[in-house]
Order: sequence, then C-alpha cells, then structure tokens
Amino acid sequence: MNNFSSPQAGPMMKDNPFDLDNDAAYAAWRERKLDGYPLDVGELIVEVNDPRQLTTTEFEAVLVRCRKTNMAIVAGPAGEDPDKAIPRALGSRFGLTRLDCNRGADDDGVTTLKVVGNEWRGSYIPYTNRPIHWHTDGYYNRQENQIRGLLLYCVSPAARGGENALLDHEIAYIHLRDMDPDYIRALMRPEVMTIPPNVEGGIELRPARSGPVFSVLSDGTLHMRYTARTRSIEWSPDHVTQKAVAALNIFLSSASPHIYRAIMQGGQGLICNNVLHDRSGFDDDETHTRQLYRLRYYQRIAGT
Ligand SMILES: [Fe+2]
Repeated sequence: MNNFSSPQAGPMMKDNPFDLDNDAAYAAWRERKLDGYPLDVGELIVEVNDPRQLTTTEFEAVLVRCRKTNMAIVAGPAGEDPDKAIPRALGSRFGLTRLDCNRGADDDGVTTLKVVGNEWRGSYIPYTNRPIHWHTDGYYNRQENQIRGLLLYCVSPAARGGENALLDHEIAYIHLRDMDPDYIRALMRPEVMTIPPNVEGGIELRPARSGPVFSVLSDGTLHMRYTARTRSIEWSPDHVTQKAVAALNIFLSSASPHIYRAIMQGGQGLICNNVLHDRSGFDDDETHTRQLYRLRYYQRIAGT
C-alpha cells in the first residue's frame, strides 16, 4: 500500500491534538500521522512535466505528501531556467500568494540565495557558502507575521555540498511530547525564546523579539518558530525549558530516520509548511554556482 493513500487535512479546533489536555485526540492523531510515514526522501519527490502548470495528477501527488509530511519536492525537467515565474506559479497553485518582503528579497518578494561579495548581504550566512544551523524561516518576525509556507527553488546546485536536512516540525513535536508534555508546555510560553535586536552600525534594524517555539494557530494547525543558533539567543532560564531545548537539539543532531537529507538539483523545488531545515556548507567553482530562490509566505499550503 502506498504511504500516501490516506491523506489527512489539517486538524480542526475541536479535539485538537495539540491541546495538551486532550491525550485521546493526540494519541489518535499521532497514530495516523506515524502510520506509513515516509522514511526515504525519495518518497517526497514528485516528477512533473512543467512546474508552472501542474496536471491534476501531479498537483494531487504533491498535496498528499504535504498533508502527510508538511513538505514535498517538485522535480521539473532538468535545466537551469532562472525564471522566477516558475516558483511563483508553483506556489500560487497551492494557495501561496502572500509573500513576505524581507530585507534580502528582491522587489518582487523573491529572494535570490547565492554567494555574494562585499555588499551587506555578505554578512548574513544565507548569502555565504557557510553551513546554516537548524531553523524555521522568519523566527525573528513579529508574531503576526510568522512564515507559514516556504518554497525553495533550485536554479543550480553547487559544485560540492549544499545539502539540506529537513524535519517535519510535527515530528519534532511528537518526539518532545512523548518524552515529556511539560517540554511542550514550556516551549509554548510566549516569552520562551528571545531573538536579540539586529543592530548594524549603531542602528537598530529590528528590535528584540520574544515568542513561543510551538503555537497552535486559529485554524488549529501547529506552527514552530526555532533557531539552533546559540549566539545571543535568550532562552527562559527555567530547568524544564533548558531540558526541552537540549532534547530538541539532541534529536536534530541524531540519525533519526525522520530527518531527510537532499541536495536540491536544478529544476527542483521544496514546497513546505516552513518545516525545520538546515544547510551544509558548499563550494562553487567556475562552472557550478549554487543559486536558489526563496519564497516566504504568510499562508500555509492550502488544504493541509
Ligand atoms: Fe531557511
């Protein structure tokens, strides 16, 4: 039987599995979630003819994966077409239209990720070839502008490296709740994680931002805000929070079969509900320059 044969839409508020006082709802959802959960990144890949115009069959194949794992990799025909219309069209097919125009984004809200020289972007790790620790995107955004959907579209891979690790944030939730529901309780507190202000040349570009790691949104879905970076991140000093964060970091650095790893190839796009991810370091050469487009959305993938 195909692992994706019983798609589930996102949970509703009634009997919400993320309600810490409702063990029965959690147990039922957990069992469905883990039943036939794919353990091979290859199962996430959907080959398509034209990522701009998915057929109904291709669309449903992507959606069913996103319902199960909160992510899918759409693989278009090999090639290095740098047209930004490709990821934009792909996202909009899944209801992803409201782009976050962050500072690094181009005028159209699409961010080009590649190694840059001395301009200001070069002081931000995404625009270098250095590794990036586990995170969800926009963890420093204000609470009302959280990033729910994320699309990473690869125009061309590096000569070496540039691998992404991917982990469904609902799997991270299950891991921690199974260890101790108090870990989740601690990580849902609104002051649990504080990101320091972004100050450049004495000017504050963004104030410090506090917020929860896990939150349940009005549509009943689970959102995660997280960075494994340690520099200046302030965690609540209480014992339970410290243990919860340590447990999460151990899980993220483990060889869990739930952690997928892939080097995105030209024409491949990761579409996801802002799952946890990292990136290994990489090297470009004269003929191989890693270039990705990053599209951050305020919406989740429709129907998940
Ligand atoms: Fe990211």
